[in-house]
Amino acid sequence: MPFTRKTTAARQLPIARKFSIISPFLLTTELNSVHQATARAHPNIAFIKYWGNRDSHLRLPASSSISMNLDGLFTETTVQWSARQTSDTFVLNGAAQFGAPLTRVSAHMDHLRQRLNIIDKAHVESANNFPTGAGVASSAAAFAALTVAAVVAAGDQLDERELTTLARLGSGSAARSVPAGYVEWHTAKTHEESYAETIFAPDYWDLVDVVAIVNTTHKARGSTEGHSAADTSDLQPARIAGAAGRLAACKTAIRDRDFDAFAQVVEHDSNLMHAVMMTSRPPVFYWQPASLALMQRVRDLRADGVRVCYTLDAGPNVHCICVRDDAAEVKAALDGMSEVIETLTAPAGGGVQIIARR
Ligand code: PMV
Repeated sequence: MPFTRKTTAARQLPIARKFSIISPFLLTTELNSVHQATARAHPNIAFIKYWGNRDSHLRLPASSSISMNLDGLFTETTVQWSARQTSDTFVLNGAAQFGAPLTRVSAHMDHLRQRLNIIDKAHVESANNFPTGAGVASSAAAFAALTVAAVVAAGDQLDERELTTLARLGSGSAARSVPAGYVEWHTAKTHEESYAETIFAPDYWDLVDVVAIVNTTHKARGSTEGHSAADTSDLQPARIAGAAGRLAACKTAIRDRDFDAFAQVVEHDSNLMHAVMMTSRPPVFYWQPASLALMQRVRDLRADGVRVCYTLDAGPNVHCICVRDDAAEVKAALDGMSEVIETLTAPAGGGVQIIARR
């Protein structure tokens, strides 16, 4: 059993009942029969990466990570618990899902059913306001929104820390999309201790992610599979050994709003993760020639005094992190490159919000 159940008798949600909910998302409210809720969550970009698990079933990461939520980009997910349904159903961007996507959502609903102690199945509808394959990890926002919508729809009240641990079971990086702003997700040996928390509010430092899209096709290898392959790289132990030091350096750089120190550690950490990916067996190369051209352009811009650095997730698109005052110049420089299909611009964003319930 992955985590502790609070009660033993499974419940079916009653047709009508009164709840008094106090949560970070809702004021104290008397609700009739809360069975449906809609949550909105932002994707996040990691400055210090998560790559590899110490426990892949519980998605306990091999090292701690730091990210920033991406404002303006979001996933909205509605969960409706229903005693009438005999299985979970899932609609993504208006299209009914079957096979692997439905299985993954349903497996996450099993975790939530166990924790919430309910037996009902759920209808889940989710939509992203950013293009699929845009190089923005949609699973983080998706599982953050799904988790919080499901808990609120069931009329339950869990604190933010526990919500991050539950989101983590669906997709590791989803833990970081629950709290607001700049977020640290802790590596730990147990489910309860591997949680995420805000380390700086979104307005603490005006960083902006200008995402340069160079390719919109699907990933060479999904991240769940990639995490499992990380240990096959000879470089992963060295990457993990230095992770705590890089995390501390990144936190200090954000605290001091020291862009030079920030750029050094963020680019180094991204390069290390990609070195592990390329040396895993079998290897996976997410960088494409266009990615390398952009990384070089970013370094040149920085040499000219523009406060920008790069980081890449499990894909070829390049996240160019810059200070707000330099964002227009960065965007213009990237838009002028033949390799760039389009750019998306996102400042630091808030945490998960409940936007509807009944
Ligand atoms: O949460 P996952 O399993 O999609 O893994 C995310 C991995 C990276 O995006 C490559 C790095 C990170 O820390 O977000």
